[in-house]
Amino acid sequence: MPATRPALAPGGLPLLGHLPALLSRPLAFLDTLPAHGDPVRIRVGPREMYVVSGPETVRRVLTDRTGYDRTGPLYAKIRAFLGNGLASCPHADHPRLRRIVQPAFRPALLPHYAEAMTEGTTALLAQWREGRVVDVTREAFRLTTAVAVRTLFSAGLRPRAAEELRAALDVLLRGIYLRVVLPAADLLPTPGRRRYRRALADWHAGVAAIIADYRARGIDRGDLLSLLLAARDEDGRPLAERELADQVATLVLAGAETTSAALAWSLRLVAEHPEAERKLHAEVDAVLAGRPARWEDLPHLPYTARVIDEALRLYPPAWAVSRTTTRPTELAGARLPAGALVVCCLYLLQRRPELFPRPGAFDPDRFADGGPPRGGYLPFGFGATKCPGDRFGLAEAVLALATVAGRWRLRPAAPGPVRPVPRIVLSPGPQPMLPQSRLGGPVG
Ligand code: HEM
Repeated sequence: MPATRPALAPGGLPLLGHLPALLSRPLAFLDTLPAHGDPVRIRVGPREMYVVSGPETVRRVLTDRTGYDRTGPLYAKIRAFLGNGLASCPHADHPRLRRIVQPAFRPALLPHYAEAMTEGTTALLAQWREGRVVDVTREAFRLTTAVAVRTLFSAGLRPRAAEELRAALDVLLRGIYLRVVLPAADLLPTPGRRRYRRALADWHAGVAAIIADYRARGIDRGDLLSLLLAARDEDGRPLAERELADQVATLVLAGAETTSAALAWSLRLVAEHPEAERKLHAEVDAVLAGRPARWEDLPHLPYTARVIDEALRLYPPAWAVSRTTTRPTELAGARLPAGALVVCCLYLLQRRPELFPRPGAFDPDRFADGGPPRGGYLPFGFGATKCPGDRFGLAEAVLALATVAGRWRLRPAAPGPVRPVPRIVLSPGPQPMLPQSRLGGPVG
């Protein structure tokens, strides 16, 4: 049968296409798409994109490295802000950068990084008070950005410099998505644009100063930046200055918001599911007895890990991994033109009813025996660009969730459902919650 053009999803408006639906009720809109095909075509303003959501089609797009690339206007926009980092570089640059960055994620280094995770969580929780509302999404983000800055630059950084970098990052992460979907955001001289540009300049200056300091003092601090400085490609060349700064930015950006979203969703889901909460509390009480979780505890926290796995299934932070076709191509009998933006929707993939019975239900125990179906669970992507920080992110989320659950029971402070915010990362949006102490006596 000759390939046909993928069906256009119904409900698009003139000019705006499906953008209003995507902005006002994003997940509900996404949920309607598989019924119209895989791939299915949607329109976002003037742009057409193809949404892919089945195990075979997603796998094909992520592994066919000559037919699909990280090119096109979307990635050009991301690179304009982030540089040519490992997570956004075209495939031609990818093997070299991956070879250089990968050693920083050797399993042997994880226990060392985990110390920063435990310390970061302890410092964060020391500020929580019984009955004082915290925005859990924001707190999770504070934790993961602090851990990212510490694991990259280690303790050599003055606390003030670390906080300044973290704050700049905060503004950048919020601003980048807006600029990717709404290029006009950069044309108008708004306070938001000024703030964004100042944060970008602060970030570049801060990172450049740190790199210069490391070089000048020639110190190996056993952190990610020391590893990147020492790394050589197969021709024995180190990373150029600009490349180094781009990788640093990428590692923080790729790691911090994804992991914080996973943690924030987990805290919310646990608060809403008493049975899961009970099992989680039983596990952490038996293993930790109120102390913070450490690297050595991880093998003893299987239920906590399943909570994170299930939160990553229901709300994959990297919900939409996109590629651009390099030539006219065929995908599952559908014809795609050259230059088409193809979005692998991991959110839809991981909710397919034939792969996950009762796909919308939060059930950590579905990960208990045998794990998830092959090809149906890809929160860290697949193929050559699969997340190198997967074990890092999982360790951080599990340690933080266990430590929080050992000390605090969280309850939503405002009634009503979560309003997910799908930007580059699928975040639960602000989540004010009330911490209730689970320890007898004074806490902190
Ligand atoms: C729960 C947490 C995380 C999730 C869900 C996640 C998800 C993903 C996904 C889906 C990709 C593939 C993107 C693609 O194919 O284009 C990816 C790539 C990447 N991630 Fe993660 N990630 C997480 C944590 C981290 C952490 C902690 C780091 C670093 C410290 C990190 C660094 C990266 C980098 C550098 C890439 C690009 C890899 C490449 O293109 O070779 N991620 N991540």
